[in-house]
Amino acid sequence: MIITVVGGHGQIARRLTRLLTADGHTVRALVRDPAQLDDVAADGAEGVVCDIEDAAADVEAAVAGSDALVFAAGAGPGSGPERKVTVDQQGVERTVAAAEARGVGRYVVVSAMGAGDPPDDDEVFSVYLRAKAEADRIALASSLDVTVVRPGGLTDDPGTGQVTVGADVGRGEIPRDDVAAVLAAVLVDGTTIGHTFEVVGGPTPVAEAVAEVAAVPEDEA
Ligand SMILES: NC(=O)c1ccc[n+]([C@@H]2O[C@H](COP(=O)([O-])OP(=O)(O)OC[C@H]3O[C@@H](n4cnc5c(N)ncnc54)[C@H](OP(=O)(O)O)[C@@H]3O)[C@@H](O)[C@H]2O)c1
Repeated sequence: MIITVVGGHGQIARRLTRLLTADGHTVRALVRDPAQLDDVAADGAEGVVCDIEDAAADVEAAVAGSDALVFAAGAGPGSGPERKVTVDQQGVERTVAAAEARGVGRYVVVSAMGAGDPPDDDEVFSVYLRAKAEADRIALASSLDVTVVRPGGLTDDPGTGQVTVGADVGRGEIPRDDVAAVLAAVLVDGTTIGHTFEVVGGPTPVAEAVAEVAAVPEDEA
């Protein structure tokens, strides 16, 4: 497959690129800073400069020709409420529209635990979760084959290859390595299409856990 990763220089994104290219896929990494092109090339990706907050960016051209798109961008912990909307929400909205326009077909969202029931106060984290929730809703309402992955707290611990998935798995952490492995498995497992699930560290091998996703009750996700 040709897989476009939005936010291609992100910590999960780079791990995902290395897994996908090792499996023989072609990865196009969208980055917003040209200085990041060498890093993504070293991961095995074709780097393309595309800032999803830049009105002048040709997002359609950046995604054209791919079979699948993974949204792994995020405004990040230091950002304020405005960028939660412009990156985490509108970035999905914009790339979903571009994927629809260019027939990309498959779309996988890196969402977040808590987006299923976001608080309604003005804390930045609450704004972030509402932006994620709206992004997930927009993606799922599109014509694309969508899977929404909601990880718990991310760590840089080495991956274990084992996770727990479910509609509501309870608070927990997960190494970025394992999130990347879940995303790689989701991309090749069509039974996850149309599903939303949380994921944290746990006892189940990734491929086995991802194969259980279709049984996650949607009304609880
Ligand atoms: N932290 C957690 O515990 C947690 C838990 C659950 C889910 N998540 C979600 O998981 C996502 C991925 O995590 P991560 O650790 O891989 O994040 P990360 O390392 O911060 O990666 C996010 C990437 O998005 C890029 N980006 C930001 N604005 C952009 C724009 N306008 N156009 C294009 N790219 C842009 C960033 O680029 P720059 O390098 O240029 O800034 C960065 O490379 C997070 O953003 C968050 O939404 C996080």
